[in-house]
Amino acid sequence: MLQFLVEVLIYAQCLRCRAAVVEVPMSFQGKKVLITGSSRGIGRGIALKLAEKGARVAVHYYRNREAAEETLGKIRKLGSDGFLVQADVCRPEEVRRIFEQVRSEFGSLDIFVSNARTEAPTFYEAPMAITLDKWDTAMDSQAKAFLVAAREAAAMMSKGGRIVAISFAPGGRFGSWQPWVAMGAAKAAMEVLVR
Ligand SMILES: NC(=O)c1ccc[n+]([C@@H]2O[C@H](COP(=O)([O-])OP(=O)(O)OC[C@H]3O[C@@H](n4cnc5c(N)ncnc54)[C@H](OP(=O)(O)O)[C@@H]3O)[C@@H](O)[C@H]2O)c1
Repeated sequence: MLQFLVEVLIYAQCLRCRAAVVEVPMSFQGKKVLITGSSRGIGRGIALKLAEKGARVAVHYYRNREAAEETLGKIRKLGSDGFLVQADVCRPEEVRRIFEQVRSEFGSLDIFVSNARTEAPTFYEAPMAITLDKWDTAMDSQAKAFLVAAREAAAMMSKGGRIVAISFAPGGRFGSWQPWVAMGAAKAAMEVLVR
């Protein structure tokens, strides 16, 4: 589907599943990176690691601007730079707006990490009880957001660009526990898009 290398970082949280990290040797110095959901959590961790290696980072957040500012502050302390971008990834027009801002600030993009995930109460419900709104939130935030974002990112990348999708191995492969049904299905759909 995409002409450049696409990788999935499968991150497993249960003890029986070992984290599998696909490492690709490359220099990050001066690279322009966008990470959705980098205000906190794993997204922030990725942002700081890449900033430490010289990458500039577009720090995306949804509601928590203060946390996003803290991430950007830490990036600057590491000697790199970036900017903040706000959007709800469940809304395709807002996903496109992220890339408009990235284009105007960075001009182009080297790495896109699709990491944002909505809060558990927005999707966490067993199959026989889940509302269709919750199902849609899971699918929109992962599969649809990734589809829209990957197209936008690809258009801004030159040869050697990277797109990384953060999944959840037990959810994406087996569904995990019952209330994870929507997010598991959404991660599986995102993984299919990657492959
Ligand atoms: N944590 C785990 O144990 C674990 C395990 C396996 C896989 N993962 C995966 O790793 C990724 C990050 O997880 P995490 O636990 O680090 O997340 P987290 O700490 O809960 O942070 C979620 C991030 O997503 C953003 N976000 C929430 N709703 C959003 C929306 N509607 N639109 C756009 N952004 C939104 C948040 O922004 P605000 O700060 O502005 O709210 C925040 O930056 C997810 O894809 C998750 O499935 C996590």
